[in-house]
Amino acid sequence: MRIAAVDQGTTSTRVLVFEDDAPPRVAHAVRHRQSYPQPGWVEHDPLELLTNIEACLAAAGPVDAIGIANQGESCLAWDAVSGEPLSPVIVWQDNRTNDAIERLAAAGAAEGVAARTGLPLDCYFSASKLAWIVENIAPARAALDAGRLRLGTTDSFFLDRLAGTFATDATTASRTALMDLATLAWDEGLCRLFGVPREALAPIRPTSAAFGAIGGTPVTASVVDQQAALRGHGCRAVGDAKITFGTGAFALAVTGPDIARQRTDGLISTVAWQTQAATTYALEGGVYDVGSVVEWALRIGILDAPSELAAFAAPPALSRGLAFVPALSGLACPQWDRNAAGLWIGMTTATTRQDLQQSLLEGIAMQTREVVRAMDKAIGLGDAISVDGGLTASPYFLQFLADVTGKTIVRRANAELTAYGCALLAGLPESGGPSSADIAYSPGRPVKGADARYAEALARCGGWRSV
Ligand code: G3P
Repeated sequence: MRIAAVDQGTTSTRVLVFEDDAPPRVAHAVRHRQSYPQPGWVEHDPLELLTNIEACLAAAGPVDAIGIANQGESCLAWDAVSGEPLSPVIVWQDNRTNDAIERLAAAGAAEGVAARTGLPLDCYFSASKLAWIVENIAPARAALDAGRLRLGTTDSFFLDRLAGTFATDATTASRTALMDLATLAWDEGLCRLFGVPREALAPIRPTSAAFGAIGGTPVTASVVDQQAALRGHGCRAVGDAKITFGTGAFALAVTGPDIARQRTDGLISTVAWQTQAATTYALEGGVYDVGSVVEWALRIGILDAPSELAAFAAPPALSRGLAFVPALSGLACPQWDRNAAGLWIGMTTATTRQDLQQSLLEGIAMQTREVVRAMDKAIGLGDAISVDGGLTASPYFLQFLADVTGKTIVRRANAELTAYGCALLAGLPESGGPSSADIAYSPGRPVKGADARYAEALARCGGWRSV
Protein backbone atom coordinates (compact mmCIF):
# COMPACT_ATOMS: atom_id res chain seq x y z
CA MET A 1 0.00 0.00 0.00
CA ARG A 2 1.39 3.39 -0.96
CA ILE A 3 0.28 6.45 1.01
CA ALA A 4 1.04 10.14 0.54
CA ALA A 5 1.05 12.05 3.83
CA VAL A 6 0.89 15.81 3.40
CA ASP A 7 2.16 17.81 6.39
CA GLN A 8 0.77 21.32 5.90
CA GLY A 9 2.46 23.10 8.83
CA THR A 10 2.98 26.65 10.01
CA THR A 11 6.10 27.29 7.97
CA SER A 12 6.08 24.71 5.19
CA THR A 13 4.16 22.03 3.30
CA ARG A 14 5.82 18.66 2.81
CA VAL A 15 4.75 15.36 1.42
CA LEU A 16 6.15 11.96 2.28
CA VAL A 17 5.38 8.79 0.43
CA PHE A 18 5.19 5.64 2.54
CA GLU A 19 5.17 2.20 1.01
CA ASP A 20 5.13 -0.91 3.20
CA ASP A 21 8.53 -1.28 4.88
CA ALA A 22 10.47 0.87 2.42
CA PRO A 23 12.06 4.01 3.91
CA PRO A 24 9.71 6.96 3.39
CA ARG A 25 10.52 9.34 0.61
CA VAL A 26 10.21 13.14 0.90
CA ALA A 27 8.72 13.86 -2.50
CA HIS A 28 8.43 17.63 -2.14
CA ALA A 29 8.75 20.37 0.47
CA VAL A 30 8.03 24.05 0.07
CA ARG A 31 7.94 27.00 2.44
CA HIS A 32 5.23 29.65 2.30
CA ARG A 33 5.08 33.35 3.09
CA GLN A 34 4.39 34.56 6.63
CA SER A 35 2.60 37.94 6.70
CA TYR A 36 2.67 40.19 9.75
CA PRO A 37 0.32 43.06 8.74
CA GLN A 38 0.24 44.49 12.27
CA PRO A 39 2.00 43.68 15.53
CA GLY A 40 0.58 40.41 16.84
CA TRP A 41 -1.13 39.54 13.54
CA VAL A 42 0.06 36.49 11.57
CA GLU A 43 -1.48 35.49 8.25
CA HIS A 44 -1.01 32.99 5.41
CA ASP A 45 -2.37 33.15 1.87
CA PRO A 46 -5.00 30.39 1.50
CA LEU A 47 -4.37 29.97 -2.22
CA GLU A 48 -0.61 29.70 -1.70
CA LEU A 49 -1.18 26.86 0.78
CA LEU A 50 -3.57 25.18 -1.64
CA THR A 51 -1.09 25.45 -4.52
CA ASN A 52 1.66 24.03 -2.33
CA ILE A 53 -0.46 21.02 -1.38
CA GLU A 54 -1.27 20.43 -5.05
CA ALA A 55 2.43 20.60 -5.93
CA CYS A 56 3.18 18.11 -3.14
CA LEU A 57 0.57 15.66 -4.36
CA ALA A 58 1.76 15.96 -7.96
CA ALA A 59 5.33 15.22 -6.81
CA ALA A 60 4.16 12.21 -4.79
CA GLY A 61 2.96 10.45 -7.93
CA PRO A 62 0.32 7.71 -7.93
CA VAL A 63 -0.67 6.50 -4.46
CA ASP A 64 -3.49 4.42 -2.97
CA ALA A 65 -4.55 6.91 -0.31
CA ILE A 66 -3.83 10.41 0.97
CA GLY A 67 -3.65 11.76 4.52
CA ILE A 68 -3.47 15.47 5.30
CA ALA A 69 -2.09 16.94 8.54
CA ASN A 70 -2.97 20.55 9.25
CA GLN A 71 -1.64 23.35 11.42
CA GLY A 72 -4.44 23.18 13.97
CA GLU A 73 -6.28 26.34 14.95
CA SER A 74 -5.44 28.46 11.87
CA CYS A 75 -8.68 29.33 10.08
CA LEU A 76 -10.39 31.32 7.31
CA ALA A 77 -13.61 32.11 5.45
CA TRP A 78 -14.48 31.21 1.88
CA ASP A 79 -17.39 31.28 -0.52
CA ALA A 80 -19.46 28.09 -0.61
CA VAL A 81 -20.32 28.53 -4.28
CA SER A 82 -17.11 29.79 -5.88
CA GLY A 83 -14.67 28.33 -3.33
CA GLU A 84 -12.82 31.67 -3.32
CA PRO A 85 -11.21 32.67 -0.01
CA LEU A 86 -12.93 35.62 1.67
CA SER A 87 -10.18 36.14 4.25
CA PRO A 88 -6.54 35.34 4.76
CA VAL A 89 -5.70 32.34 6.93
CA ILE A 90 -5.51 33.77 10.43
CA VAL A 91 -2.70 31.74 11.94
CA TRP A 92 -2.84 30.12 15.39
CA GLN A 93 -0.11 32.48 16.63
CA ASP A 94 -2.21 35.57 15.80
CA ASN A 95 -3.46 37.46 18.85
CA ARG A 96 -5.65 40.17 17.27
CA THR A 97 -8.64 38.83 19.23
CA ASN A 98 -7.07 39.08 22.65
CA ASP A 99 -9.36 41.98 23.63
CA ALA A 100 -12.46 40.04 22.62
CA ILE A 101 -11.25 37.12 24.73
CA GLU A 102 -10.64 39.41 27.70
CA ARG A 103 -14.18 40.75 27.37
CA LEU A 104 -15.58 37.21 27.39
CA ALA A 105 -13.42 36.38 30.40
CA ALA A 106 -14.65 39.48 32.24
CA ALA A 107 -18.20 38.36 31.51
CA GLY A 108 -17.45 35.07 33.27
CA ALA A 109 -17.37 32.80 30.21
CA ALA A 110 -14.15 30.91 30.99
CA GLU A 111 -15.56 28.16 33.16
CA GLY A 112 -18.35 27.18 30.77
CA VAL A 113 -15.98 27.15 27.79
CA ALA A 114 -13.48 24.96 29.63
CA ALA A 115 -16.17 22.57 30.83
CA ARG A 116 -17.48 21.95 27.34
CA THR A 117 -14.33 22.18 25.21
CA GLY A 118 -11.44 21.26 27.54
CA LEU A 119 -9.80 24.55 26.51
CA PRO A 120 -9.01 27.78 28.34
CA LEU A 121 -10.37 31.04 26.96
CA ASP A 122 -7.53 32.14 24.71
CA CYS A 123 -7.18 33.71 21.29
CA TYR A 124 -4.96 30.76 20.25
CA PHE A 125 -8.09 28.75 19.42
CA SER A 126 -10.17 29.36 16.28
CA ALA A 127 -13.49 30.58 17.73
CA SER A 128 -12.57 34.22 18.33
CA LYS A 129 -10.65 34.36 15.04
CA LEU A 130 -13.66 33.11 13.08
CA ALA A 131 -15.90 35.61 14.86
CA TRP A 132 -13.40 38.38 14.00
CA ILE A 133 -13.63 37.46 10.31
CA VAL A 134 -17.43 37.64 10.35
CA GLU A 135 -17.39 40.96 12.18
CA ASN A 136 -14.60 42.68 10.26
CA ILE A 137 -14.46 41.37 6.70
CA ALA A 138 -17.30 42.79 4.61
CA PRO A 139 -17.31 40.08 1.89
CA ALA A 140 -17.58 37.42 4.60
CA ARG A 141 -20.58 39.22 6.09
CA ALA A 142 -22.15 39.56 2.67
CA ALA A 143 -21.65 35.82 2.05
CA LEU A 144 -23.26 35.11 5.40
CA ASP A 145 -26.26 37.22 4.46
CA ALA A 146 -26.46 35.44 1.11
CA GLY A 147 -26.31 32.02 2.81
CA ARG A 148 -23.01 31.09 1.11
CA LEU A 149 -20.40 31.61 3.86
CA ARG A 150 -18.06 28.78 4.81
CA LEU A 151 -15.94 29.16 7.91
CA GLY A 152 -13.38 26.74 9.18
CA THR A 153 -9.94 25.54 10.02
CA THR A 154 -7.59 25.13 7.05
CA ASP A 155 -8.33 21.41 6.68
CA SER A 156 -11.96 22.06 5.82
CA PHE A 157 -10.92 24.56 3.14
CA PHE A 158 -8.38 22.15 1.62
CA LEU A 159 -10.84 19.25 1.67
CA ASP A 160 -13.62 21.38 0.19
CA ARG A 161 -11.44 22.72 -2.61
CA LEU A 162 -9.36 19.62 -3.38
CA ALA A 163 -11.60 16.67 -2.54
CA GLY A 164 -15.01 18.27 -2.96
CA THR A 165 -15.89 17.38 0.64
CA PHE A 166 -16.81 20.08 3.14
CA ALA A 167 -15.67 18.35 6.33
CA THR A 168 -13.33 18.59 9.28
CA ASP A 169 -12.17 15.93 11.72
CA ALA A 170 -12.62 15.64 15.47
CA THR A 171 -8.99 16.53 16.32
CA THR A 172 -9.13 19.77 14.37
CA ALA A 173 -12.61 20.64 15.59
CA SER A 174 -11.36 20.12 19.15
CA ARG A 175 -9.00 23.10 18.59
CA THR A 176 -11.75 25.57 17.72
CA ALA A 177 -13.38 26.01 21.17
CA LEU A 178 -16.71 25.39 19.42
CA MET A 179 -16.91 21.60 19.77
CA ASP A 180 -18.26 19.73 22.77
CA LEU A 181 -15.39 17.42 23.69
CA ALA A 182 -17.67 14.66 24.97
CA THR A 183 -20.18 14.51 22.10
CA LEU A 184 -17.75 15.57 19.33
CA ALA A 185 -20.47 17.85 17.92
CA TRP A 186 -20.59 21.62 17.41
CA ASP A 187 -22.07 23.32 20.46
CA GLU A 188 -24.81 25.83 19.62
CA GLY A 189 -24.25 27.73 22.86
CA LEU A 190 -20.55 28.19 22.18
CA CYS A 191 -21.22 29.30 18.61
CA ARG A 192 -23.60 31.96 19.98
CA LEU A 193 -21.17 32.98 22.73
CA PHE A 194 -18.32 33.65 20.31
CA GLY A 195 -20.51 34.91 17.46
CA VAL A 196 -19.76 32.16 14.94
CA PRO A 197 -22.66 31.13 12.68
CA ARG A 198 -23.03 27.39 13.25
CA GLU A 199 -24.43 26.83 9.75
CA ALA A 200 -21.15 27.97 8.17
CA LEU A 201 -19.11 25.22 9.87
CA ALA A 202 -18.21 21.87 8.30
CA PRO A 203 -19.63 18.54 9.50
CA ILE A 204 -17.23 16.78 11.91
CA ARG A 205 -16.00 13.30 10.91
CA PRO A 206 -13.64 10.82 12.56
CA THR A 207 -9.90 11.37 11.94
CA SER A 208 -9.65 8.18 9.89
CA ALA A 209 -12.63 8.45 7.55
CA ALA A 210 -13.66 8.98 3.95
CA PHE A 211 -12.95 12.62 3.05
CA GLY A 212 -13.64 12.36 -0.68
CA ALA A 213 -10.99 11.93 -3.36
CA ILE A 214 -8.31 14.04 -4.99
CA GLY A 215 -7.75 13.11 -8.64
CA GLY A 216 -9.46 9.78 -7.96
CA THR A 217 -7.32 8.95 -4.89
CA PRO A 218 -9.27 8.69 -1.63
CA VAL A 219 -8.39 10.98 1.26
CA THR A 220 -8.55 8.66 4.26
CA ALA A 221 -7.28 10.83 7.12
CA SER A 222 -7.37 14.45 8.19
CA VAL A 223 -5.69 15.40 11.45
CA VAL A 224 -3.94 18.18 13.39
CA ASP A 225 -0.17 17.92 12.92
CA GLN A 226 0.58 17.61 16.66
CA GLN A 227 -1.88 14.78 17.07
CA ALA A 228 -0.40 13.07 14.00
CA ALA A 229 3.03 13.39 15.59
CA LEU A 230 1.73 11.83 18.83
CA ARG A 231 0.65 8.82 16.81
CA GLY A 232 3.91 8.82 14.83
CA HIS A 233 5.95 8.80 18.05
CA GLY A 234 4.25 5.51 18.92
CA CYS A 235 2.33 6.93 21.90
CA ARG A 236 -0.67 4.66 22.53
CA ALA A 237 -0.95 3.88 26.26
CA VAL A 238 -2.20 6.29 28.94
CA GLY A 239 0.77 8.45 30.04
CA ASP A 240 2.77 8.03 26.79
CA ALA A 241 3.98 11.50 25.83
CA LYS A 242 5.81 13.33 23.09
CA ILE A 243 7.13 16.85 22.75
CA THR A 244 7.78 18.48 19.38
CA PHE A 245 10.12 21.48 19.52
CA GLY A 246 9.16 23.54 16.46
CA THR A 247 8.11 27.20 16.32
CA GLY A 248 6.60 26.44 19.71
CA ALA A 249 6.87 23.31 21.84
CA PHE A 250 3.86 21.04 21.83
CA ALA A 251 3.65 18.35 24.47
CA LEU A 252 0.86 15.78 24.19
CA ALA A 253 0.14 12.80 26.43
CA VAL A 254 -2.41 10.06 25.76
CA THR A 255 -5.26 9.86 28.29
CA GLY A 256 -7.13 7.01 26.54
CA PRO A 257 -10.90 6.85 26.09
CA ASP A 258 -11.45 9.31 28.93
CA ILE A 259 -11.22 13.07 28.95
CA ALA A 260 -8.88 14.20 31.74
CA ARG A 261 -10.97 16.86 33.42
CA GLN A 262 -9.58 17.04 36.91
CA ARG A 263 -6.28 18.36 38.22
CA THR A 264 -5.25 19.47 34.78
CA ASP A 265 -3.54 22.66 36.01
CA GLY A 266 -3.89 24.70 32.87
CA LEU A 267 -3.38 21.81 30.47
CA ILE A 268 -5.69 21.40 27.50
CA SER A 269 -7.89 18.37 26.97
CA THR A 270 -8.10 17.49 23.33
CA VAL A 271 -8.92 14.69 20.90
CA ALA A 272 -5.85 12.59 20.04
CA TRP A 273 -7.64 10.78 17.20
CA GLN A 274 -11.02 9.29 16.42
CA THR A 275 -11.24 6.10 14.42
CA GLN A 276 -14.45 4.35 13.41
CA ALA A 277 -13.98 2.15 16.50
CA ALA A 278 -13.07 4.57 19.28
CA THR A 279 -12.11 8.04 20.39
CA THR A 280 -8.76 8.56 22.12
CA TYR A 281 -8.17 11.73 24.10
CA ALA A 282 -4.96 13.52 25.05
CA LEU A 283 -3.72 16.22 27.37
CA GLU A 284 -1.72 18.99 25.79
CA GLY A 285 0.51 21.77 26.97
CA GLY A 286 2.43 24.21 24.85
CA VAL A 287 5.27 26.69 25.06
CA TYR A 288 4.54 29.40 22.47
CA ASP A 289 8.13 30.41 21.80
CA VAL A 290 10.86 27.91 20.97
CA GLY A 291 12.11 28.12 17.38
CA SER A 292 10.93 31.72 17.48
CA VAL A 293 13.35 32.37 20.39
CA VAL A 294 16.21 30.98 18.32
CA GLU A 295 15.18 33.08 15.32
CA TRP A 296 14.93 36.18 17.48
CA ALA A 297 18.38 35.49 18.95
CA LEU A 298 19.80 35.12 15.44
CA ARG A 299 18.08 38.32 14.29
CA ILE A 300 19.40 40.48 17.10
CA GLY A 301 22.87 38.93 17.03
CA ILE A 302 22.97 36.96 20.28
CA LEU A 303 23.53 33.91 18.10
CA ASP A 304 25.35 33.49 14.77
CA ALA A 305 24.13 29.97 14.00
CA PRO A 306 21.92 27.40 15.77
CA SER A 307 24.95 25.08 15.91
CA GLU A 308 26.36 27.36 18.65
CA LEU A 309 23.66 25.91 20.92
CA ALA A 310 25.05 22.36 20.81
CA ALA A 311 27.35 22.45 23.84
CA PHE A 312 28.57 24.80 26.60
CA ALA A 313 31.68 24.51 28.73
CA ALA A 314 30.28 26.42 31.73
CA PRO A 315 27.89 24.96 34.33
CA PRO A 316 24.20 25.76 33.74
CA ALA A 317 23.52 29.50 33.68
CA LEU A 318 20.57 28.93 36.02
CA SER A 319 22.89 27.47 38.66
CA ARG A 320 24.88 30.70 38.35
CA GLY A 321 21.81 32.88 38.91
CA LEU A 322 20.97 33.79 35.30
CA ALA A 323 17.39 32.94 34.28
CA PHE A 324 15.48 33.58 31.06
CA VAL A 325 11.73 33.19 30.55
CA PRO A 326 10.84 32.57 26.87
CA ALA A 327 7.56 34.50 26.99
CA LEU A 328 8.14 36.50 23.79
CA SER A 329 4.50 35.94 22.77
CA GLY A 330 3.20 35.56 26.31
CA LEU A 331 2.89 32.39 28.33
CA ALA A 332 0.72 29.43 27.38
CA CYS A 333 0.25 26.40 29.63
CA PRO A 334 0.05 26.39 32.57
CA GLN A 335 0.02 30.18 33.18
CA TRP A 336 -2.05 31.30 30.15
CA ASP A 337 -0.91 34.91 30.35
CA ARG A 338 -0.86 36.62 26.96
CA ASN A 339 0.38 39.76 28.68
CA ALA A 340 3.53 38.11 30.00
CA ALA A 341 6.76 39.16 28.29
CA GLY A 342 10.18 37.57 27.99
CA LEU A 343 12.82 38.56 30.52
CA TRP A 344 16.23 37.81 31.93
CA ILE A 345 17.11 38.13 35.55
CA GLY A 346 20.57 37.90 37.06
CA MET A 347 22.76 39.65 34.46
CA THR A 348 26.04 41.14 35.65
CA THR A 349 29.08 42.68 33.96
CA ALA A 350 30.50 39.16 33.92
CA THR A 351 27.61 37.78 31.81
CA THR A 352 28.83 36.60 28.41
CA ARG A 353 27.17 36.03 25.08
CA GLN A 354 27.48 32.28 25.69
CA ASP A 355 25.75 32.68 29.04
CA LEU A 356 22.82 34.36 27.29
CA GLN A 357 22.66 31.58 24.68
CA GLN A 358 22.82 28.93 27.37
CA SER A 359 20.07 30.57 29.37
CA LEU A 360 17.81 30.80 26.29
CA LEU A 361 17.87 27.00 26.07
CA GLU A 362 17.48 26.57 29.78
CA GLY A 363 14.46 28.90 29.87
CA ILE A 364 12.76 26.87 27.12
CA ALA A 365 13.54 23.66 29.03
CA MET A 366 12.24 25.09 32.32
CA GLN A 367 9.02 26.30 30.71
CA THR A 368 8.64 22.85 29.12
CA ARG A 369 9.18 21.36 32.55
CA GLU A 370 6.18 23.36 33.82
CA VAL A 371 4.08 21.47 31.28
CA VAL A 372 5.65 18.08 32.04
CA ARG A 373 5.07 18.56 35.78
CA ALA A 374 1.43 19.48 35.25
CA MET A 375 0.95 16.36 33.08
CA ASP A 376 2.70 14.14 35.57
CA LYS A 377 0.44 15.43 38.32
CA ALA A 378 -2.69 14.98 36.21
CA ILE A 379 -2.22 11.50 34.79
CA GLY A 380 1.26 10.22 35.70
CA LEU A 381 3.59 10.15 32.72
CA GLY A 382 5.87 7.24 31.87
CA ASP A 383 9.59 7.44 32.68
CA ALA A 384 10.55 8.43 29.14
CA ILE A 385 9.36 11.22 26.87
CA SER A 386 9.84 11.04 23.11
CA VAL A 387 11.00 14.27 21.44
CA ASP A 388 11.56 15.67 17.96
CA GLY A 389 11.95 19.01 16.20
CA GLY A 390 14.66 21.54 15.45
CA LEU A 391 15.90 22.26 18.96
CA THR A 392 16.52 18.56 19.63
CA ALA A 393 19.69 18.98 17.57
CA SER A 394 21.23 20.47 20.75
CA PRO A 395 22.59 17.76 23.08
CA TYR A 396 22.98 20.42 25.78
CA PHE A 397 19.29 21.21 25.61
CA LEU A 398 18.22 17.56 25.76
CA GLN A 399 20.50 16.70 28.69
CA PHE A 400 19.34 19.79 30.59
CA LEU A 401 15.71 18.87 29.88
CA ALA A 402 16.32 15.34 31.22
CA ASP A 403 18.00 16.74 34.33
CA VAL A 404 15.25 19.22 35.20
CA THR A 405 12.28 16.99 34.34
CA GLY A 406 13.72 13.81 35.86
CA LYS A 407 12.59 11.95 32.72
CA THR A 408 14.61 10.06 30.14
CA ILE A 409 14.42 12.18 27.02
CA VAL A 410 14.49 10.11 23.83
CA ARG A 411 15.42 11.95 20.66
CA ARG A 412 13.85 10.05 17.79
CA ALA A 413 16.03 9.33 14.77
CA ASN A 414 12.98 9.62 12.50
CA ALA A 415 12.52 13.32 11.89
CA GLU A 416 9.23 12.91 10.00
CA LEU A 417 6.94 11.67 12.73
CA THR A 418 4.06 13.99 11.82
CA ALA A 419 3.87 12.58 8.31
CA TYR A 420 4.37 9.04 9.62
CA GLY A 421 1.52 9.41 12.13
CA CYS A 422 -0.68 10.91 9.44
CA ALA A 423 0.09 7.96 7.13
CA LEU A 424 -0.76 5.52 9.94
CA LEU A 425 -4.11 7.23 10.44
CA ALA A 426 -4.66 7.12 6.68
CA GLY A 427 -4.27 3.34 6.67
CA LEU A 428 -0.52 2.56 6.56
CA PRO A 429 0.04 -0.71 8.45
CA GLU A 430 2.00 -0.23 11.70
CA SER A 431 5.64 -1.15 11.35
CA GLY A 432 8.92 0.04 12.91
CA GLY A 433 8.85 1.33 16.46
CA PRO A 434 11.76 2.87 18.25
CA SER A 435 14.96 2.72 16.24
CA SER A 436 18.44 1.81 17.41
CA ALA A 437 19.45 5.23 16.15
CA ASP A 438 17.24 6.97 18.76
CA ILE A 439 19.32 8.77 21.39
CA ALA A 440 18.32 8.63 25.07
CA TYR A 441 19.38 11.28 27.60
CA SER A 442 19.06 10.04 31.19
CA PRO A 443 18.39 12.43 34.05
CA GLY A 444 20.84 12.59 36.91
CA ARG A 445 22.58 15.92 37.28
CA PRO A 446 20.33 18.14 39.39
CA VAL A 447 20.73 21.82 38.54
CA LYS A 448 21.44 23.65 41.78
CA GLY A 449 19.01 26.48 42.52
CA ALA A 450 17.17 26.08 39.22
CA ASP A 451 13.70 25.76 40.74
CA ALA A 452 13.84 28.85 42.90
CA ARG A 453 15.55 31.03 40.31
CA TYR A 454 13.16 30.14 37.49
CA ALA A 455 10.13 30.54 39.75
CA GLU A 456 11.37 34.02 40.66
CA ALA A 457 11.79 34.95 36.99
CA LEU A 458 8.36 33.55 36.11
CA ALA A 459 6.72 35.50 38.88
CA ARG A 460 8.18 38.72 37.45
CA CYS A 461 7.27 38.33 33.79
CA GLY A 462 3.49 38.24 34.18
CA GLY A 463 1.22 41.07 32.99
CA TRP A 464 3.91 43.27 31.39
CA ARG A 465 2.05 44.15 28.22
CA SER A 466 -0.90 45.62 30.10
CA VAL A 467 1.35 47.93 32.17
O1 G3P B 1 -1.25 24.48 17.47
C1 G3P B 1 -0.44 24.79 16.38
C2 G3P B 1 0.34 23.58 15.91
O2 G3P B 1 -0.50 22.53 15.54
C3 G3P B 1 1.25 24.01 14.78
O3 G3P B 1 2.27 23.08 14.59
O4 G3P B 1 4.20 22.16 13.42
O5 G3P B 1 2.61 23.59 12.18
O6 G3P B 1 4.11 24.63 13.88
P1 G3P B 1 3.38 23.38 13.46
